[in-house]
Amino acid sequence: MKFNLAGIEIFRIGAAGALVLALVMGSCSPAEPEAPGMRSLEESEFGPLDGQSVKLFTLTNDSGAEVAITEYGGIVVSLMVPDRDGNLGDVVLGFEDLDSYIADTPYFGAITGRYANRIAGGRFEIDGTGYELPLNNGPNSLHGGLKGFDKVIWRAKPTESGDGIAFSYVSADGEEGYPGTLESKVTYTWTDRNELRIDYIASTDKPTVVNLTNHSYFNLKDGGASPILGHQLTINADSYTPIDATLIPTGEIAPLAGTPLDFREPTEIGARIEDASEQLAFGSGYDHNYVLNAAPEGLTLAATVYEPETGRAMEVLTREPGVQFYSGNFLDGHLVGKGGIVYEHRSGLCLETQHFPNSPNQAEFPSTVLRPDDAYSTTTVYRFYTR
Ligand code: BGC
Repeated sequence: MKFNLAGIEIFRIGAAGALVLALVMGSCSPAEPEAPGMRSLEESEFGPLDGQSVKLFTLTNDSGAEVAITEYGGIVVSLMVPDRDGNLGDVVLGFEDLDSYIADTPYFGAITGRYANRIAGGRFEIDGTGYELPLNNGPNSLHGGLKGFDKVIWRAKPTESGDGIAFSYVSADGEEGYPGTLESKVTYTWTDRNELRIDYIASTDKPTVVNLTNHSYFNLKDGGASPILGHQLTINADSYTPIDATLIPTGEIAPLAGTPLDFREPTEIGARIEDASEQLAFGSGYDHNYVLNAAPEGLTLAATVYEPETGRAMEVLTREPGVQFYSGNFLDGHLVGKGGIVYEHRSGLCLETQHFPNSPNQAEFPSTVLRPDDAYSTTTVYRFYTR
């Protein structure tokens, strides 16, 4: 399969193995005329890993916009949405093949877990029992450890509604130091309104900690060929969790007003990123958890991103209490992605909906403990449109 952006071939995957599984639109009600839509679900081989097949699923909606997601890490490999003139373009960073993801990726598009973001010193206690995790980020544990949920094979099944794929993974008791067998299911749904809805559920057989998110890097202009500094960002948060030099929250919940981290009004990401600020120095730019102004019920609008040249915009809605805004500060030009794009400094941005970093060690933060009688369930929606 091949997608084109401004005449450049940017992405090619297992053409030979592609299989059209379902054409679902227009088939739900016999009274309605057949919709002329383009909805389809294709399954192809993304590559073998350890003798196992790893699949790639491509969901195309009624208007032809599409998302491709692989069983390796549940990674969103590509996301093609229109600009204001109707031209489809890939808005996420990533690679063309599985081997590149295995070799070196800063979590491009992946499900991160069992605990997204950092746990200080790789240590926490539940009910007086201490647990130790491998350290993979200076003195801390980041994104679930050495082999987090981004590096495992999830098993995928199309949903009955035909517009989604459910990815399942069972993490063994003790895997990466975490207690309890954790059964997780992450369902991606691609709607006809260009919404990528992600529903996460999990259950455990022993008390554990869980914080799942998606780590897509977005660039609404050109998928990462240029910096994201001209994107305008709004974050629906009055406060944030300040960090120390190792990017661990200090425990304080501080107001954003008067700081260069305040995105309550639409602001270009590049406008203040170089300001003299201890917080920006600690993050090497933006790498902070925002405490969302929660909606009274249902999904909270966490953030809006607008790219003025293409007119593409994205809303992030979530049931999570926080969002990590990461401005791609550690991208440094050593990774070459889809279509040969070199991912330079700040060529992608992440809005990772989540519980706060290091919550297992901060009793004041919303709890991330999951017990055998609890059901972990959360939802995030990335909604694309133009203006
Ligand atoms: C973290 C960053 C990190 C990035 C890639 C983000 O969630 O906050 O510090 O560099 O993920 O691992």
